[in-house]
Amino acid sequence: MRKIALQISPEVRTAYFADYLDVAETELAQVTGFKPEEFVQFGELEFFLLNCPEERDEELLKLSFVQGLFEIGDGSYFPLNKAFEYQLHRDFVFGSKFKGKTNERLTQLLLNVGLSVIDCPVGEPIRLLDPMCGRGTTIMWGMQYGFRCKGIDREEAALEDIVRNTKKWCKVHRTKNKFERGALGDKKRRNSPRYLDATLDGQRARFVTGDARKPSEYFGSEKFNLIVSDLPYGIQHFGDGDTRNPLGLLSECAVSWREVLAEGGAVVLAFNKKQPKRGQLIAAFENAGWTANEFNAPHRMSESIVRDIVIFTS
Ligand SMILES: C[S@@+](CC[C@H](N)C(=O)[O-])C[C@H]1O[C@@H](n2cnc3c(N)ncnc32)[C@H](O)[C@@H]1O
Repeated sequence: MRKIALQISPEVRTAYFADYLDVAETELAQVTGFKPEEFVQFGELEFFLLNCPEERDEELLKLSFVQGLFEIGDGSYFPLNKAFEYQLHRDFVFGSKFKGKTNERLTQLLLNVGLSVIDCPVGEPIRLLDPMCGRGTTIMWGMQYGFRCKGIDREEAALEDIVRNTKKWCKVHRTKNKFERGALGDKKRRNSPRYLDATLDGQRARFVTGDARKPSEYFGSEKFNLIVSDLPYGIQHFGDGDTRNPLGLLSECAVSWREVLAEGGAVVLAFNKKQPKRGQLIAAFENAGWTANEFNAPHRMSESIVRDIVIFTS
C-alpha cells in the first residue's frame, strides 16, 4: 500500500493551541478509522504518516487539519496535485472576521465528525441546522459541502451582518447571489421572526432571528440530518436571561431538537467544559432520550476556556 504524509495545517494551532496534534489525531480516527503511524517534522512543517489506498484521498483532504497530501517514495515527499472540491470560494468561510466567530477549522471538524456518524439516504442533500448560528460560520461550511442549511440566532443584528460579510465576497469573486428578507407567520405582527434567504452560486441557506428552542416553529416539518452548533461560552455569549451557564437552555433544546431530527441524524456540539460540565450536558440529553457518542476532543482554546465536543444520536 502507498505510504502518504498528511501535512498538518498551521491554522489548527490557532484553533487548539497546545492540543492541536491530539485533536487532529482524534478527527483522523473518528472520520477515517486511521491512526498515524508516525509524526514527522521538518522545521515548521509537520506531517502524520500512514499507509492508505488512493481511494481514501478525498476523505483525507477534507479533514479540518489537513493542508495537503504527499506520496512518499525513496525517502522523498511528492506533493499530490489534489484538493477537495468545495462549492464556494474559501473566503466565504475564512474571509470575514467578527466578534464571537467560531474558529473555522473547529467548525469544519464539527461537520466532519457529524458526517461520520449519520445515516442519510444516498442521493438526497444533507440538511444542516445550526440553532445558535451567530454570523453563520457553520452554515457557510455547510454551503461549501453542498448541504441545505438553516440557522437560528437570537441576535437581531446577525442577519444584516451576514448580508454585509457575504456580499463582500460575492463581489470580489463574482459569485452569483440573491438575498431575500421577510417575516415568518403573521407578517403584520411586529414581533414575527425575521428571516434571510441567501443563495450563493446555487447553494441555499435560510437564517432566522429566533430562539434555538423553537426550530419546528420556524421550519415546519423539515427534518435535519445534522444539528451542529458552537454553544454560548457563558463569557462573551450568555445562554439565557442573566445566567452564564447555558445548561437550562440546553435541557430545553434537547427536547425540541428531537422533533426536527431526521432518522439516522445526529447533534454535534462544541462547548466550554466549565459550563456546562460534560457529564451535565450528557445527562440533559440522555434525559431527553439521546445517546452520547464516546467521541471527545478537549482542548484549551484560551486562558480561561477549555472547549470540548460531544456527539448525540437519537
Ligand atoms: C459561540 S456563538 C456562535 C458563533 C457562530 N458559530 C459564528 O461563528 O458566528 C453562540 C451564539 O448563540 C447565540 N444564542 C445564545 N442563546 C440563544 C438562543 N436561546 N437562541 C438562539 N441563539 C442563541 C448567541 O447569540 C451567539 O451568537
